[in-house]
Amino acid sequence: MTGSTKKSLLRVLAGETLETPPVWMMRQAGRYLPEYRELRATAGGFLDLCYNPEFATEVTMQPIRRYGFDAAILFADILLLPQALGMDLWFETGEGPRLNPVTCTEDLKKLKSKEEIHEVLGPVYETVKRLSGELPKETTLIGFAGAPWTVATYMVAGRGTPDQAPAREWMYRDPAGFGQLIDLVTESTIEYLAKQVEAGAEVIKLFDSWSGALGGSCFEEYALKPAIRIATELKSRFPGLPIIGFPRGAGGGYIKFADAGVFDGVAIDTSVPADWARDVLQPKVAVQGNLDPMLLITGGASLERETKRLVEILGKGPYIFNLGHGITPQGDPANVEKMLRYIRG
Ligand code: CP3
Repeated sequence: MTGSTKKSLLRVLAGETLETPPVWMMRQAGRYLPEYRELRATAGGFLDLCYNPEFATEVTMQPIRRYGFDAAILFADILLLPQALGMDLWFETGEGPRLNPVTCTEDLKKLKSKEEIHEVLGPVYETVKRLSGELPKETTLIGFAGAPWTVATYMVAGRGTPDQAPAREWMYRDPAGFGQLIDLVTESTIEYLAKQVEAGAEVIKLFDSWSGALGGSCFEEYALKPAIRIATELKSRFPGLPIIGFPRGAGGGYIKFADAGVFDGVAIDTSVPADWARDVLQPKVAVQGNLDPMLLITGGASLERETKRLVEILGKGPYIFNLGHGITPQGDPANVEKMLRYIRG
């Protein structure tokens, strides 16, 4: 496909600047939508949605039908991979994910190999396949995984933590052992994402939600290096596959992602100044972000001002409108509509 027949998100990731930026939202399928809450109650719980291709396809489609976003992101979770590696995973209502933690090299022996993950993840690939048949022809399908560091923080702590201390402790105390964990997650993530692409994912996004916790040489070792390894391997298997990196909280580390030469887009969190992203990142990669999700709770003049400001600053280069982090359950669906009107006119 060439020119205007190509999907808008793919055009921007190929370096084009569009008159109106494509837009989608992190967590666009989720609890702020009444139709999501209804289906989740029918399914039983969040994981029942993830592993049922019919339900997962339906919840992925919900925000596309409602808002006509330019991209759909596969409905799944970054923690399905540790589950496929043999860990128990469950979600405590109102508290978030729980896993039986892996805390030493001895524990690693209990995990499965990268070849064995597909048994559990098969339904996810089926969802991708169904979506690629169901989505409107202009909508891009995004597949994703957690970046190894972020996934490891949950595997080691067995839950979300404010400072990722358990993983950081293991990382400093026993770099060789911790490195084995990162390598296993890195290589398994490659196989997981490759299957998503084979099933029909057109873009891959790598979520490194906790990369901001990595100091010193550890950012390069555990965030940058594994991300480059995954992107390089995927691009060699699928030439031309667009990849978006999201090293949330990375600060100056964002430059290293833009310079790596294997990311077509870099997603920026709320803390990154838009004019800095325009000047420093956008000459090298497409930029995606970074409206504060809080504005979808408050709405009002602030929502209009900040939405238009982002389009004004970043819209003159390759730009994908998005949030700086996921929309929260308290987000108001009517404010999402307003945001879209401010972007699309
Ligand atoms: O719409 C989408 O963005 C696609 C699906 C998606 C989910 N999680 C669904 C989900 C994606 C891309 C993710 C990524 C994810 N999951 C990340 C990285 C991005 C980020 O938010 O930083 C992380 C760290 C996770 C792990 C995770 N999953 C946590 C910590 C939680 C609990 C917190 C919360 O928001 O409830 C989840 C649950 C989760 N993942 C929900 C959804 C829709 C809510 C589940 C529910 O109660 O219905």
